[in-house]
Amino acid sequence: MQVKPSERLNGFMTYAFAEVDKAKEEAKLNGFRVLDFGVGDPTEPLYENAIKGLQSGAERHKSSGYPSYIGMKEFRNAASEWMHRRFNVSPDPNSQITSTAGSKEAVFHLPFTFVNQGDNVLMPSIGYPPYKAGTVFAGGIPRFYQLKEENGFLPDLNEIESILREGRTKLIWINYPNNPTTAIAGDSFFSELIYLSEKYDAIIASDEAYTEMYTNKIPRSILEYTDDWNNIIAFQSLSKRSNATGIRVGFVVGGKELINYYRKFRTQIDSGIPNAIQEAAISALNDEEHVRKMRDAYDKKRKLITSALDEVGIKYWADSTFYIWARSPSSSISFAKSMLMLDNSAKIGINITPGGMLALGNAPNADNYFRLALVPSLEDTELASRLIKENLNM
Ligand SMILES: Cc1ncc(COP(=O)(O)O)c(C=O)c1O
Repeated sequence: MQVKPSERLNGFMTYAFAEVDKAKEEAKLNGFRVLDFGVGDPTEPLYENAIKGLQSGAERHKSSGYPSYIGMKEFRNAASEWMHRRFNVSPDPNSQITSTAGSKEAVFHLPFTFVNQGDNVLMPSIGYPPYKAGTVFAGGIPRFYQLKEENGFLPDLNEIESILREGRTKLIWINYPNNPTTAIAGDSFFSELIYLSEKYDAIIASDEAYTEMYTNKIPRSILEYTDDWNNIIAFQSLSKRSNATGIRVGFVVGGKELINYYRKFRTQIDSGIPNAIQEAAISALNDEEHVRKMRDAYDKKRKLITSALDEVGIKYWADSTFYIWARSPSSSISFAKSMLMLDNSAKIGINITPGGMLALGNAPNADNYFRLALVPSLEDTELASRLIKENLNM
């Protein structure tokens, strides 16, 4: 028998980053040290009390067996109390919150609960790949809205409404603070989107993975804009807030019926989040000091890179998240390749993500931009800042 993947999986087998990865390997073979501003994975350690929570949790739960499908009561309480302190909303821990293994799987799995074959799912044309992958694997049809510079990288609600008018849109994905553009959505956007979703019976799925990574303007949750969460579900994650990408924990908050069906679906997938990890998350949710320190550390790095971009005349956006979104001086893939060998005499290069590779669908403007993730150490970020100033004179 010839082993073949499913047609759906086959559609996702070509790896978008392959070309730049090859160039990165080549640069290394040519003796270049590559400072990696590519993938958005924090390099700082997990919040220290979360480590203690993990350790004591392992002991405390050594005989607890399978964890709860929906998260321990203490975890859901901590999540609800955090939502109250942070966004002044009060989700019921019994019926409006459920635990997830970080938000990636949670995002991927949502369409399986609500989407039927051929239903539309709206998502940004440049964005986080699981919006599309989850939709396709669930049999839905990804439909894209554009994020344009002239609209502050917010969706054009007329464009969204014209797709909603066709009917059969089950879900609308939004992501603010936004990866990769760093845009933060304002009050009118959230309120108008809620109005449209009610008018056309669509669920708003709000990916709020970056609400804790900001500079001046404090991002809000869509849940703050209405008391009626009947068709709203928000995704939170400890990953970026507490450098917790390695322990995979988050939660979703939304209307009772949505959460009820989503919980039912999730009992088919796995058996909940390990209790020790939930204990770690409880310690992390109960502390804001480490989150402030995380923001300060990224602020320093953000300033180093943006001052270099200012000096060489590259326009950029850096309002939130730990990314910088910038105008590419040439096609983003060729620019990214040239950055890998930026300083030929010192043999040091910088890895960035070409905008074109973050496109999920037809995104005519993606190739005009690139993204930098501020994850290298402060020292390497200083070095990158200097190299940009010295070598990138436009
Ligand atoms: C927009 C967005 N949403 C969600 C996530 C998921 O993060 P995690 O699965 O670690 O919670 C990421 C991670 O990079 C992201 O960029």
